[in-house]
Amino acid sequence: MSAVQIEYQRGNEMKLFVSFSARKTGNCAQIIDFLKAPQDKVIHYADLNAHGCSDCGYECFRTQCKYRNDDVYRLYNSFADYEKVILLVPMYCGNPSSLYFGFNERSQDFFMHHENEYTSFVERLFIIGVYGSRKEYPDFIGCFEKWFEGTPYQHHVLGIERHLYRQAMKDSVIDIEPVRTALLEFIR
Ligand SMILES: Cc1cc2nc3c(=O)[nH]c(=O)nc-3n(C[C@H](O)[C@H](O)[C@H](O)COP(=O)(O)O)c2cc1C
Repeated sequence: MSAVQIEYQRGNEMKLFVSFSARKTGNCAQIIDFLKAPQDKVIHYADLNAHGCSDCGYECFRTQCKYRNDDVYRLYNSFADYEKVILLVPMYCGNPSSLYFGFNERSQDFFMHHENEYTSFVERLFIIGVYGSRKEYPDFIGCFEKWFEGTPYQHHVLGIERHLYRQAMKDSVIDIEPVRTALLEFIR
C-alpha cells in the first residue's frame, strides 16, 4: 500500500461503494478493494432483490412504485447515511451495464418523494466508469454527467480507460500506477 493510499484510508468518513458489474472479481471490484477503508460498505447491485421498470402502470408518477419493497428504494434511502457514495459502472456493448440502467430508472420513484433532497444527494455522489476508451466511446462518461446537470457539482465522474494502457478485458486496471493515482485524487 502506498503512503498516499494509507493517508487516504486514515480518513474516517464513511463511504458506500456500489458495483454495477456482473462479476465480483473484475475491475470494478478491484477498484473498490483499492479505495475502500475498513469502515466503508460495499454492495454488489447484482446481489440485490432489484426489480427493473417493467410490468407496471407508471405508478411511480402518481403514487409509488409497485416494487417499492424490493431493495432499490432502501438503497437510495441509505445514501443519506454516507459522506460519499461511489458507483462503479462497467461498459457493456457500448453503454453502461443494464444493472446501472435498472438502478437509474428507479430514481424516478425515489425523487418523486424526495425532490428536495436531490442536490444533497448528488453532492455526495461520485461515479467511476470502466471502459475501453473515450476516443472509441465519446458518450459513455457524458451519460453519468447527467446526474449533475444544473447543480454546482463538477468533477464527480471519472472514466478509467483500459485502452490507454493497452490493456485487454482480462487485465487489471489497478495494476497501472497512473490509474491508482487518478482514483485516489478523484476520491479525495
Ligand atoms: C457483455 C459485455 C460487453 C462488453 N462490452 C464492452 C464494450 O463495448 N466496450 C468496452 O470497452 N468494454 C466492453 N466490455 C468489457 C468491460 O467493460 C470490462 O470487462 C470492464 O472491466 C468490466 O468491468 P468488470 O471488470 O468489473 O467486470 C464488455 C464486457 C461484457 C461482459
